[in-house]
Amino acid sequence: MTTAWTAAFITPASTTGVTDEPASYLRREFHVSEQPIRATLHVTALGLVEPHLNGAVVGDEVLAPGWTSYRHRLVVSTHTVTDQIRAGANALGAVLGEGWALGRLGWEDRRNHYADRPALWLQLELEYPDGSVEVIRTDSEFTSHAGGVRENSIYDGEAFDARLEPVGWDLPGFDDSEWGATEEFDWPVESLVSPAAEPIRRIEELAPVEILTTPQGRTVVDFGQNISGWVRLKVEGTTGSTITLRHAEVLFDGEADFETLRTAKATDSYTLRGDGIEEWEPRFTFHGFRYLQLDGWPGELTADSVRAVVVHSDMTRTGWLETSNPLLNQLHSNAVWSMRDNFVGVPTDCPQRDERLGWTGDINAFAPTAAFLYDVRGVLGSWLKDLAVEQQEKGFVPWVVPDVLSTPSSPTALWSDVAVSLPWTLYREYGDETILADAYESMTTFIRQVADLLDDNGLWSTGFQYGDWLDPDAPADNPAGGKTDRHLVAAAYLYRTTREMADTAQVLGRADDHAEFTSLAARVRTAFLNEYVTATGRVVNESATAYALAITFDLLSADQMAHAGDQLAKIVARAGYRISTGFAGTPLVTDALTATGHLDEAYLLLLETSAPSFLYPVTMGATTIWERWDSIRPDGSVNPSGMTSLNHYALGAVVDWMHRTIGGLTATEPGYRAVRIAPQPGGELTSARLRHTTRYGDISVAWAKNADLVTVDVTIPEGTTGDVVLPWHPEGLTAPIAAGEHHWEYQIVEDAAGVALSLASTLREVADDARAWRAFTDVFARHYPGIPLDAKAPEAAALPISTLLDYVPGASAEFRSEIEASLITSSNGLPA
Ligand code: BGC
Repeated sequence: MTTAWTAAFITPASTTGVTDEPASYLRREFHVSEQPIRATLHVTALGLVEPHLNGAVVGDEVLAPGWTSYRHRLVVSTHTVTDQIRAGANALGAVLGEGWALGRLGWEDRRNHYADRPALWLQLELEYPDGSVEVIRTDSEFTSHAGGVRENSIYDGEAFDARLEPVGWDLPGFDDSEWGATEEFDWPVESLVSPAAEPIRRIEELAPVEILTTPQGRTVVDFGQNISGWVRLKVEGTTGSTITLRHAEVLFDGEADFETLRTAKATDSYTLRGDGIEEWEPRFTFHGFRYLQLDGWPGELTADSVRAVVVHSDMTRTGWLETSNPLLNQLHSNAVWSMRDNFVGVPTDCPQRDERLGWTGDINAFAPTAAFLYDVRGVLGSWLKDLAVEQQEKGFVPWVVPDVLSTPSSPTALWSDVAVSLPWTLYREYGDETILADAYESMTTFIRQVADLLDDNGLWSTGFQYGDWLDPDAPADNPAGGKTDRHLVAAAYLYRTTREMADTAQVLGRADDHAEFTSLAARVRTAFLNEYVTATGRVVNESATAYALAITFDLLSADQMAHAGDQLAKIVARAGYRISTGFAGTPLVTDALTATGHLDEAYLLLLETSAPSFLYPVTMGATTIWERWDSIRPDGSVNPSGMTSLNHYALGAVVDWMHRTIGGLTATEPGYRAVRIAPQPGGELTSARLRHTTRYGDISVAWAKNADLVTVDVTIPEGTTGDVVLPWHPEGLTAPIAAGEHHWEYQIVEDAAGVALSLASTLREVADDARAWRAFTDVFARHYPGIPLDAKAPEAAALPISTLLDYVPGASAEFRSEIEASLITSSNGLPA
């Protein structure tokens, strides 16, 4: 049975909503003469809503209705409440917080983006045995009052005074004669939609790992993991005393450091009733935090008194990877947690500061990783609907979706082109053509808009671009000002998206569009090659990002590709395997190395620990992916740039490469109907285990090397086929496999000791051995910091190291012996 959604929105007559106000409590009673066979509550709000029925909160959703482009899509939650209805008197109500609709959003400090007052919409449908249906709707029968929630804000936190909570307000018989009136609120019911995504819920609880007293004498609780959510407390104390909870991502000099929050106060407070044990948690805010600074706790704080509650969209986990390297496992875990923490309804940049917006570039970079780790059809499918309706309304793809920026967004590579690449990524992951069909108009509109912006040469050479955002060499105050020409970045990404667009048209059988986008792609590629690439494959700009883009987006011919790969390998070696890429290049650089035969270099890059690098944050104790490579500097201080989050998933996109290269799993047909399983071990890994849930079932890959015995186990589900390329196999065995479990076991032949290097080896020989080169350059960098070492420079390459050392000014005996040791400890053989 479905009943039309005909209720009106109501708002407390007394509220204005334009400044911080206590949350509104709304209630009414109704009489039921017999027990209904089914009772269903549909509810939503402008602001956040916590529905109540007969003394209890309805359902287990939190932060409902989440954040969507409310004017177009306001999500209605549906709860079965049959067991909570009783014959006789019933009380129905809700508490309304500010949430995203009313509260401040964005660093521009603007509020009321969607409404100037909180508003409730609900419909309770009661179905009786005789087939009749009674509907209780939001109407003027509802009264309203303030309660214990004195202040509430997503960014700033929640203040609750338990003395002011009206006891029994959500039970029948409560005296609401002093409560105020409600009135109708004008809001289009056409905006009401059923949920496309999983609701936000409490997912997990973390006990404190440590309770600290800081050098300044403060109490700080360490929950051991940077999360999104809040703290629940259990406390006993005197009436009117107040506990203050401040949330922080990091400690500096032993104290909670709030720099990464920018202006978000992230502070909750609880004022006690004082009549025994009290339990409380906020409901209209969430924080990105690992540490809790507690002030005003009465008596002794024990580990049982506080729990960190992890809160995010309740998605299903679908991807796992574990390796023999604990640092890599932590990097993987950090990416998983940054994803969880940033999927609170909307895929956001960060969960802690005065931002938490649906930044398009961030999810575009991270989407392949996200789609492997969790089933994201709900959250990202819903978000793409918002993107499409806002794009249609505004005439551009907003940089943040839902769009709350005060200025229009111009089309920008990696950010705006999420309109094309995200549906394509989801299609590749889930094999569902309706994802493409649903997004088709949005995708084509974006591509045609950019096509109109190209100059006579076919280049995207005008307009703002984020470029290789947060390139570690960009000035701290200009993250878009990296080494790589931003229009080169734009042209390369445009080639990728026009090809995805052409492929989409083909999948959907749109022959004319396919031809149009194929020829556009060809034009963009020619323009890119003419402007940015030499005939032999040298890419102007000579940055890792420029090469990574040219290689992974297939812009080059086979010969050019090989040369470009060698150039890229030199660039990463010269940087001492420290990272030199930002948002645009980082997801691609390990792939570009791997695709051009530089697997060793890819592993060296992955495993480097000095700043900036993938593992530097791990060595600094990170439990999530940082926004900047040096969000925390080596002295432990927070990077003071004003834009320093410890929880941004974008740079965690390398985890996608780990899944495909270490775990070895690649979908060769959409939805994993056909797969290639080809683990490419390196970096002295001795084992890895991957699992991925696909629409056909679970795929698992496990490989291990014990001395010279290798075992490989692969399972693929019914309905799929695969090719397996066995790692270290003496004959390089490739085998087609059918659905089921497969096991291989074989001896490997150790390489004859690898190349023995010494001071007599030439610089070229050292450079050709990635691990030797790493050790060698490390010693060099320690003694001569900042001096670039170009191993492949023609004038030096053929000289023995001993000769070269004679040219090094002031080379000490210690330096010489360290150099010698670096050559002896290295080899290019197999892992020991
Ligand atoms: C966000 C980024 C985002 C960028 C673009 C930042 O403030 O946190 O992740 O992509 O702005 O301007």
